[in-house]
Amino acid sequence: MRLDKFICKSTELTKREAIQEIHAGHILVNDLIVLDESTQVHENNLITLNGQRLKPRPFRYLLMHKPANTICSNTDGDYPSLFNQLDTDGVHGLNRDELHIAGRLDVDTTGLVLITDDGRWTYNITRPDKDCKKIYRVGLSYGIPEHKIAPLVERFKQGIQLQGEQGLTQSALLEVLPSIKKESREVLLTITEGKYHQVKRMFAAVGNRVLSLHREKIGEVQLDVEEGHWRFLTAHEVSSFTR
Ligand code: URA
Repeated sequence: MRLDKFICKSTELTKREAIQEIHAGHILVNDLIVLDESTQVHENNLITLNGQRLKPRPFRYLLMHKPANTICSNTDGDYPSLFNQLDTDGVHGLNRDELHIAGRLDVDTTGLVLITDDGRWTYNITRPDKDCKKIYRVGLSYGIPEHKIAPLVERFKQGIQLQGEQGLTQSALLEVLPSIKKESREVLLTITEGKYHQVKRMFAAVGNRVLSLHREKIGEVQLDVEEGHWRFLTAHEVSSFTR
């Protein structure tokens, strides 16, 4: 990894502060002063700051309950960043610049997001060939009459042709939830991909419209904190994505 990233991962310094330390000649790599922040280094290198050996801290893994009207990027845009909800004031040594979301949600989507600084781990969640299941609770504009449930379930199972995409989506599991009304407007959808606006586009392709979207589960990890809150994942939850 780059030297400036290594320093951020092993201290509480921001990227800018790390670069300042490098340019000031305070960083030695294997006993030599290195002044270029883009120098590639490895954990096995002996890297010191003012004579103190630096060791990268372990990766972080969190889950958060995303509220609506927040965005999944590190900085605010038209809406506030979800990361504002993380108390990254140093108490937990969390630096939001190092973290990313493993599988972003749209601004109006709520529910489970996984947050980490471990890019390889994220791969296991987001790559379609890893078959990681994401379960969404979907509120629909148009009710699904009883006699249309089975054909629709079959259509999602076979894969849906999305507009502008080549080939069908991967097989998806559609469960129409019981309703006291004649036609149910609430479903659970399990998918293993994360194409742009995928769930909304899947329902658009079958002539419906998503009114509300909430992610309940990713792999074995179930959302269990209140909106706007977060917690660290357990070791078991972290390893469940690499098994
Ligand atoms: N599919 C969507 O359409 N939006 C999301 O936020 C997640 C999945």
